[in-house]
Amino acid sequence: IPVALAGRRVTLVVSGGIAAYKSLELVRRLRERGIVPRCVLTRGGAQFVTPLSLAALSGAPISEDVFAATENAGMAHIQLSREADLVAVVPASADLIAKMAHGLADDLASALLLAADKPILIAPAMNVRMWEHPATRANIASLESRGVRRVGPATGTLADGESGPGRLSEVPDILAAIEEMLTPSGRLKGRHAIVTSGPTQEPIDPVRYISNRSSGKQGHAVAEALAELGARVTLVSGPVALADPAGVETVHVETTQQMLDACLAALPAEVAVCAAAVADWRVAAPAASKIKKAAGAAAPRLDLALNPDILATLAKPGNRRPRIVVGFAAETERLVEGARAKLAAKGCDLVVANDVSAGTTFGADTNLVHLVSAKGVDSWPPLAKPAVARRLAEKIATLLDGE
Ligand code: C5P
Repeated sequence: IPVALAGRRVTLVVSGGIAAYKSLELVRRLRERGIVPRCVLTRGGAQFVTPLSLAALSGAPISEDVFAATENAGMAHIQLSREADLVAVVPASADLIAKMAHGLADDLASALLLAADKPILIAPAMNVRMWEHPATRANIASLESRGVRRVGPATGTLADGESGPGRLSEVPDILAAIEEMLTPSGRLKGRHAIVTSGPTQEPIDPVRYISNRSSGKQGHAVAEALAELGARVTLVSGPVALADPAGVETVHVETTQQMLDACLAALPAEVAVCAAAVADWRVAAPAASKIKKAAGAAAPRLDLALNPDILATLAKPGNRRPRIVVGFAAETERLVEGARAKLAAKGCDLVVANDVSAGTTFGADTNLVHLVSAKGVDSWPPLAKPAVARRLAEKIATLLDGE
């Protein structure tokens, strides 16, 4: 049994469908691998497997109803996510998938899935026409854009005699998907990555500053995703309202100069990802004391100076240049052209071009991006920022492998 799996906790949601019986086998296999399952049965699921058989196999009581959870004051849905490393929905019915996609929370299973801040895996199982219905297609796309992972459905003869995609994946395949999600791939083990994130603040005087609306969500997500692949990550963050990501060394800075200094101090690194929205200008000579508003006096004039370009500095050829340097570009028009120009101007290896025209990106949770490198353009569908981060981390790992 891989050490990484022993004692890991999976909350297993069993929803309705003839395939629900396979969850019993899954529970048995999870326990053989040292994984601790905690099962939640939906009303539909309970039509196909009994709470008793699930409880006996999992070695723990089964949770069925959000309102019956008296022992923890109705907080079972929070606890079932908080105490898990992963939430797996096996089988995931069309109905439960729809509820997840729309944020419904009228029973324990859907409430815990809405409250879950852990990775979620679904193993759909349903009739082929239900699977292929545009409603289900849209629900699946919506869940995947939020980072929900999926295994199956498999194609074959279904319980209702029809054939096509809709069969629950085989237990070993579901188990493999769970194990993969619980085991960081380690693709970036032994690598050091520097990530900049958030805005910078340039002081005007001791109380005022120039800044921008960057939330830092994307940069922080990239730092986390690189760490999940095993990299040692130094996150150099401007002032943001986000918690420091777990498993990452976070250096807090305010100004662009401080951000650059922190990046240079963190070298050497194999990877640098500049996701910060760096202030292009700073006040040339910030006042040492608060600028007073004198009655009748004219507004002060701010003399601005150019800030150093962190991305261009890190990407400059030399023996301390990280092997992969990634920049971000937010554009509203001629996105790819702009990104190509930036690639050349800054000397980086990859530019993640964000389409900010759709009113997404800044402060939002989803991102529409194109990856531009010397090799060409790779356009991704709209994805949640963590999903963009995970794909980018994988891409960086592939680029490093290819050297
Ligand atoms: O066109 P722009 O200079 O804004 O390019 C954006 C990219 O450059 C982003 O990756 C951003 O983090 C980086 N950048 C930087 N230092 C600056 C300005 C931008 O690292 N002073």
